[in-house]
Amino acid sequence: MPLTDLFSRTISYLRLSLTDRCNLRCMYCVTEEESTGCLTKLKHDELLTYEELLRVVRVAVAMGITKVRLTGGEPLVRRDVMSFIRALTRIEGLSDVRLTTNGILLERFGQELFDAGVTKVNISLDSLHPERVEQITGVNCFHQVWRGIESVLALGFTPVKLNMVVMRHINDDELLDFARLSQNMSIQVRFIEFMPIGESTRWSADTFISTDEIMDRIRVMGDLTPLRKDRSDGPAQVYRLGEKSVGSLGFISPLSHHFCNRCNRLRLTSAGTLRSCLLHDAEVDLRKVLRSDSDDAAIREALLEAIRNKPQGHRLAERMHRSGSDCHGRMSRIGG
Ligand code: 5AD
Ligand code: SF4
Repeated sequence: MPLTDLFSRTISYLRLSLTDRCNLRCMYCVTEEESTGCLTKLKHDELLTYEELLRVVRVAVAMGITKVRLTGGEPLVRRDVMSFIRALTRIEGLSDVRLTTNGILLERFGQELFDAGVTKVNISLDSLHPERVEQITGVNCFHQVWRGIESVLALGFTPVKLNMVVMRHINDDELLDFARLSQNMSIQVRFIEFMPIGESTRWSADTFISTDEIMDRIRVMGDLTPLRKDRSDGPAQVYRLGEKSVGSLGFISPLSHHFCNRCNRLRLTSAGTLRSCLLHDAEVDLRKVLRSDSDDAAIREALLEAIRNKPQGHRLAERMHRSGSDCHGRMSRIGG
């Protein structure tokens, strides 16, 4: 019996934020004060332990979850992350474990990830100019990330997806360069609409660019032919640019085209709370359940409660012309 919510959506995908820590300070993720120093971080005992995480995943898989994505902060900065990942991928019934990363540590962990069975990876990269990457992330890391991308391609990861958050006046002059990458490399380049998330957001209606505009601008390079979606595409609409591209382009439009009606996901934040929607702050405190000597039935009940709370959709688009956000959680804690 698949797990379904009140709106008949099948819930089969769990995103785990392993840590709120990160080795970058992306401008859309941290506040201005944080970009220069002190970040308010969870304490070690506020994070779920690896044993607790594995227990939750085992229960969730028995209930119908088949896919897990590891996120952060930056998941690969958590201590001894590989031993956790190896235990995770051994869980019976869990067929699909993926990773979202900023790529900094990919060169170092690529082989071990591949050997553990994590062969599908999303890498965030918002510019192809080293100086601009430094402006956006606070760290001069372009070359390291690029080596990470090349190393996972050489190891045979598939799919390899590059996530670009498109921001007007910040990186939208690079749309064609990013699109071009998909012509020669076996990657999916994904253009993500900038969302007003968290208190730190630098989002404004001026910096926002819709998928329709992004696609129109890319069409000067050739036709965009829709490709059949596969299970791994999630909310992205996928196209091939021109006739001969090796890779593909994905467009993710949380604001301009709702995809809530197909949403199959549940999130476990790094603080151990279950969140049924990125854009709604309602959460179920699973850490409390885990630390109160409960049996697996209580974990199951917490998961069901979060699923019952899953809203039908978000109202981001209606908020386009107001400031502020419906999501006050931090992206680095929630895990995107
Ligand atoms: N809007 C859109 N995407 C975002 N990400 C982080 N913050 C935002 C935002 N405000 C992206 C990151 C990463 C993924 C986890 O979420 O770039 O690719
Ligand atoms: Fe780190 Fe991701 Fe936030 Fe950038 S967006 S600072 S990579 S958690």
